[in-house]
Amino acid sequence: MEFIGRLHPLLVHLPIGILLLVVLFEWLPFRKPYKSLRRSIRIILWLGFFAALTSMVSGLLLKENSDYEWQSVKLHQFAGIALTLITGVYAWARGQKQFKRIYKFLSVLMLVLIIATGHLGGTLTHGEGFLFEDNSEDVDLAQVNLQQAHFYNDLVKPILDSKCYACHGSGKQKGKLRLDAPEHILKGGKGGVVLVAGKVDESEMINRTLLPLDDDDHMPPKEKAQLTPTEIEILKLWISSGADFNKSVIESNQLTALQKIISTKATSMAEVPEGNTDAADQKIIQSLSRLGAVVLPVADGSNYLSVNLVNVTAIDSSFDLLVKLKQQLVWLKAGDLPVDDSHLNQVAQLTQLTKLSLERTAITDVALTTLNSLKQLQYLNLNQTKVTATGIKFLRELKDLHSLYIYGTEVKATDLADLQQVFPNTKVEIGNYVVPTLETDTTILK
Ligand code: HEC
Repeated sequence: MEFIGRLHPLLVHLPIGILLLVVLFEWLPFRKPYKSLRRSIRIILWLGFFAALTSMVSGLLLKENSDYEWQSVKLHQFAGIALTLITGVYAWARGQKQFKRIYKFLSVLMLVLIIATGHLGGTLTHGEGFLFEDNSEDVDLAQVNLQQAHFYNDLVKPILDSKCYACHGSGKQKGKLRLDAPEHILKGGKGGVVLVAGKVDESEMINRTLLPLDDDDHMPPKEKAQLTPTEIEILKLWISSGADFNKSVIESNQLTALQKIISTKATSMAEVPEGNTDAADQKIIQSLSRLGAVVLPVADGSNYLSVNLVNVTAIDSSFDLLVKLKQQLVWLKAGDLPVDDSHLNQVAQLTQLTKLSLERTAITDVALTTLNSLKQLQYLNLNQTKVTATGIKFLRELKDLHSLYIYGTEVKATDLADLQQVFPNTKVEIGNYVVPTLETDTTILK
């Protein structure tokens, strides 16, 4: 049932195509060579009706099995049902001579409903303004040269543009708020100021993004493209460092902090591998970058690569691509993403990996049995995952592992002595405090 529901976006094209043909035939001149075509209208209409019915049912199933808000689905649903009904009536009336006068009227009504249903449906999947605005693309952070970047123009603004302007820009000002220029941001919305320079906690424009996804005040609204963890960190840093609209990253003294947030290099603990390897296929690198990954050589002139999946939403496809880079890929950052045990089969093939970050993902002990094949692994970050001491012991074969991060996991402080025996040469970082789970973490893992 759920599967049929998910086919909905595909199925809907069939009735649209068929019914547009009906409209065309209905309006063709009533003489040769078109005359004969009109005889086929009725049969095409019935076909269109059944196709519309199928789409309608799949649409209803999709609604049942997903978390669209009734408020946003409502109009599309009514239009879709109306369209199916009208098509049925039209198909039936097309066989009755006494209704001849209203054929054309019915075809126009049907056309209007096709356009309305289609547009409302498109808005549901692509977001408001999808026809005319290019919105909600994640910012391509890999393209930003931090050394020369302007903090607001090159980092903050593109984020707000892709995730907020649709409702807080020149077209719409939800909550009486515009975020598309410094003076508007400073003016605030109907609830007052939204930005307090230097004070993240008091800045409503960031606080709302940190609320749980289910909270009505959460921004962007649940059904819209969300800020990525990196984007949130960038906005926070911008505000805490003074929310200046004119300074460059360097002038704000935030270069190192930003590099930590954005680049895989800054968090490097493992050594750059000696020697070199064959260059990776550029096409695969480009595909990964398009999915939102940051792919960089680990050193100048090196063919070895580091990959940070920071902005990736298509997790499955990106892992498939990673396997194709297995010869070059040495550092992989896949933390803060909906990665789970099912992805570890691919990770297990990345045997050149020396450094792997999986913090705050949904992986469990099951994943750790697979990681055993990564014999070169030196650094492994499993902070705030569900792994236990029993699972960690599966990694005992990894002789080169020198840093193992397991803060905020199910590993207890009392397990530490035991683990140190199993991993005599590894620095096991468990932390003597429990890292509080941030609201944002819960949101991300959904
Ligand atoms: C799909 C539309 C939509 C998007 C996208 C969106 N918002 Fe909103 N936003 C709203 C609506 C609707 C309200 C009004 C809610 C209310 O009246 O309480 C609102 C209100 C707000 C407010 C409170 C304004 C006030 O003073 O009452 C802030 C702050 C805010 N949004 C920030 C953001 C940020 C930051 C983004 C991007 C990361 C964003 N919004 C993206 C729809 C949106």
